[in-house]
Amino acid sequence: MTTLFSPLKLGALTAPNRIFMAPLTRCRADAEHVPTALMSEYYAQRATAGLIIAEATMAMENNSAFWREPGIHSPAQVAGWKRTTDSVHAAGGRIFLQIWHGGRACHPLLNGGAQPVAPSAIAITGDEVLTPQGKQPYVIPRELRDDELPGIVAGFRKAAENAQAAGFDGVEVHGANGYLLDEFLRDGANKRSGPYGGSLENRARLLFEVITAVSGVWGSNRVGLRLSPLNSYNSMIDSDPIGLVTWLAERLNDFALAYLHVMRADFFRQQSGDVLTPVRANYQGTLIGNMGYTASEAAQAIGEGRLDAVAFGTGFLANPDLPARIQAGAALNKPNPGTFYTPGPEGYTDYPAMTA
Ligand code: PHB
Repeated sequence: MTTLFSPLKLGALTAPNRIFMAPLTRCRADAEHVPTALMSEYYAQRATAGLIIAEATMAMENNSAFWREPGIHSPAQVAGWKRTTDSVHAAGGRIFLQIWHGGRACHPLLNGGAQPVAPSAIAITGDEVLTPQGKQPYVIPRELRDDELPGIVAGFRKAAENAQAAGFDGVEVHGANGYLLDEFLRDGANKRSGPYGGSLENRARLLFEVITAVSGVWGSNRVGLRLSPLNSYNSMIDSDPIGLVTWLAERLNDFALAYLHVMRADFFRQQSGDVLTPVRANYQGTLIGNMGYTASEAAQAIGEGRLDAVAFGTGFLANPDLPARIQAGAALNKPNPGTFYTPGPEGYTDYPAMTA
């Protein structure tokens, strides 16, 4: 019987357990988006994860969606991340970097005044973004021209090269949660005509171009992809989320990725459905589930062969030794949302490990 502690072959790597750390935006980089020493301490504390997927990181300049988020487009950022990968490897861990473009979630105040870009000129509503000048509404993005998209693909390729120089074990392409690639995928945000709008094939074109470019750098067996077909966060909606993710799962077989990482639900519980069953039925590679799993639910899904691994987000934030706690049946620390995005060690590196 497969358990949370059965090793898992993950493309080119083997994970010693199936309790992964989900990517978590924690805003502890500096104002130039350079990863800090505090970040390397935080990730090293969590090195017993089967795999750490490090937080969303700007592939290119001027696409920041979070104040003090990290980047991977400058030499200083590469050096900053190298400190993290060295610490994680010294602690026996494995770490992928999640690379992204924030699309319409970017804000001019975070990007030197630059207007954000997106598949269509439709703003995020009903939420605000934290900037150095306080919380601000999202702005209407500029619709990208088709002839600008090769530059975005090239930006992801360069970020993949930089992630290699920074010593990561692979990269996860962020295709979820209403950021640029997801905005192209879902028809509530993509109203384009032409080769990047309309049909599933067209809406997935940019994603597939990015995966192909990044796989050209790393080999596809060191590239993962995250999707969130149901998440309404960032004003996202699709007219047929199950159809979209089922089609994607089938097509992604052609890419022989290290894994596919699927968020099963909606942060805001507005959209519901079972996305994991059709993905499992149509996708032949390694499947990671995520969002609100307890350890016992994760163990059951893996034991029954419905998933290969589960990524834990805030559970791993609050419990740096999460696999050991699960194995021991020990109580878990509770995450404190009040310190999710605040600078400094509080609510970041000060969650205690189990006492012996
Ligand atoms: C968040 O911090 O709210 C956040 C960041 C990146 C995501 C999703 C949520 O992909």
